[in-house]
Amino acid sequence: MTSGLFISFEGIDGSGKSTQTRLLAEALRASGRETILTREPGGSPGAEEIRQLVLTGDPTRWSAETELLLFTAARRDHLERTIRPALDAGHTVITDRFADSTRVYQGATRGDLRDTVDRLHALMIGTEPDLTFLIDMDPATALARGLARRSGEDRFEDMGLGFQETLRAGFLDLAAQSPDRFRVIDGNRTPEAVAAEISAIALPRAGATA
Ligand code: ADP
Ligand code: TYD
Repeated sequence: MTSGLFISFEGIDGSGKSTQTRLLAEALRASGRETILTREPGGSPGAEEIRQLVLTGDPTRWSAETELLLFTAARRDHLERTIRPALDAGHTVITDRFADSTRVYQGATRGDLRDTVDRLHALMIGTEPDLTFLIDMDPATALARGLARRSGEDRFEDMGLGFQETLRAGFLDLAAQSPDRFRVIDGNRTPEAVAAEISAIALPRAGATA
């Protein structure tokens, strides 16, 4: 059996990733594809425990290096226990965030860690998605959406608008460096319009029938 398609969604906080991952999973299932919807940090029992450590509490709770190790530990568990088994079974996997989030949040914004991020990824993860949707949008609008939601997991949202602007630029840089893998999607539209563009790209790639 051939490996399933591995799709990630990336973007700043509040850009609509959770909404769009859910809509794409529904579209894929409706067209007959077995689809796993997952997220980072998290996506396996151990990684969900690490999620609590990194997303709650004081913004200065962890050094940048410790935070990088925690996100990487969570990703390794997620990959071993959730992503790989599903891909090996031929299922489509959609994840809300993956390694590009670490490249941008830890690598591009907190000191000169980018080289360490890349080395740790090569050593411990070594996998990239087949297709990555970057939902791009104005940080002020996205931040207002995210903070309106107040999930209690707002450590990064609490770092403010300038931080979100740096993140946006970091994601656009990554997309420009890997144009074959990335599709940049304008998130400043209705959820339905965004979802229609994403489905038109993803369904044929996943071998869906509709
Ligand atoms: P993320 O996972 O990127 O943080 P969400 O999908 O959770 O984003 O969306 C953040 C908030 O914005 C939610 O309250 C959601 O209902 C709302 N939202 C999502 N997409 C849109 C959109 N296209 N237009 C307006 N509001 C949206
Ligand atoms: P998420 O729950 O997707 O947040 P949101 O719905 O607000 O987009 O992700 C949680 C936070 O974790 C988000 O602010 C980004 C951050 N993060 C990192 O800093 N590094 C990482 O490797 C990952 C996966 C997430």
